[in-house]
Amino acid sequence: MTKTVLLTGGAGYIGSHTYLGLVASGYDVVILDNFSNAQEDVPLRLARITGSPVKLHRGDVLDPVFLTGVFAAHDFDAVIHFAAKKAVGESVAKPLDYIQTNVGGFVNLLQAMDAADVRRIVFSSSATVYGDTLVQPIPEDHPRTYTSPYAYTKISGELILEQLVAADPRWAVGTLRYFNPVGAHYSALIGEDPQDIPNNLVPYIAKVAIGELPRLQVFGDDYDTPDGTGLRDYIHVEDLADGHVLSVNALLETGQSHTVNLGTGEGSTVLEVLRAYSDACGKELPFEIVPRRDGDVAVLTARPDLARQVLGFNAKRTLDDMCQSSWAWVSGQLRNDPKP
Ligand code: WQD
Repeated sequence: MTKTVLLTGGAGYIGSHTYLGLVASGYDVVILDNFSNAQEDVPLRLARITGSPVKLHRGDVLDPVFLTGVFAAHDFDAVIHFAAKKAVGESVAKPLDYIQTNVGGFVNLLQAMDAADVRRIVFSSSATVYGDTLVQPIPEDHPRTYTSPYAYTKISGELILEQLVAADPRWAVGTLRYFNPVGAHYSALIGEDPQDIPNNLVPYIAKVAIGELPRLQVFGDDYDTPDGTGLRDYIHVEDLADGHVLSVNALLETGQSHTVNLGTGEGSTVLEVLRAYSDACGKELPFEIVPRRDGDVAVLTARPDLARQVLGFNAKRTLDDMCQSSWAWVSGQLRNDPKP
């Protein structure tokens, strides 16, 4: 019997790649999105890749009536919840918007699920819940502390789910803590598509590579890392999508909840990423060293062991794969040949 999964925010960056992973794994997938942070043509691109039309509900998790209608239209086996605001800096400027959508909208979704007897959910969380870290690489039992309203909403989502599972054992939850997702789908038909000047490193470098931005500003070279620049655990978005498929599989097969890091356990510095991107695009990319960015830490890498034990998850793709796929996406080098 084919299982049906709802992706809230499924037209977004991680959601659209997860859509492809689920379809490839035999799931029937439905997308719910308000397109506040997704291009309108993403469903068409997904249909071009899969060869089948996308089942789409355009609307907002802030609208309980809309949510009730979506759950009345399908018999879902599970939900993956991506629909949330995710810019750390913006969350400082607009904390109530973030709490309204990321917490209020989340509660609306959970209530609609409960009313429809759907109690399997994968929650898109973030390494940001670890705050100022005490150890590296970071294990899942590291304390959670919020350093921004965005991080507060992610910790709140995790705590809501913990309370729900404790109160009602019919629920099973997969909480996935992403480290630094980068890259694009092998076809180069979908990828990260920031609405304005990117905050994150790789989409910023991509804009430098295609000539839309003059140079990369490297936020500090005086950290305690191999070359003094910030070190992060970058994970290919297609590996991240695979992690979501494994999480849904586990919830449906075992009914066991889990909270795992999705990272590689390896770290790359800013200058190492810049070098890899230069290799991918075949040109030197200009940069300048500027002062540190407020709130940045030196190192953030994942302990990847638990995802391997619980889900059988292993990130396969390399930093070069990430940069090559990002470059193919931003430079429009479509690829129809089968994945290697
Ligand atoms: C990576 C490194 C910067 C831009 C953020 C969010 C986190 C999560 C992932 C949602 C750092 C350096 C960056 C630039 C630079 N998002 N950098 N110049 O800060 O690790 O994590 O995205 O869940 O919540 O905080 O990612 O890509 O912004 O920065 O030198 O123009 O690149 O200092 O060392 P970050 P990032």
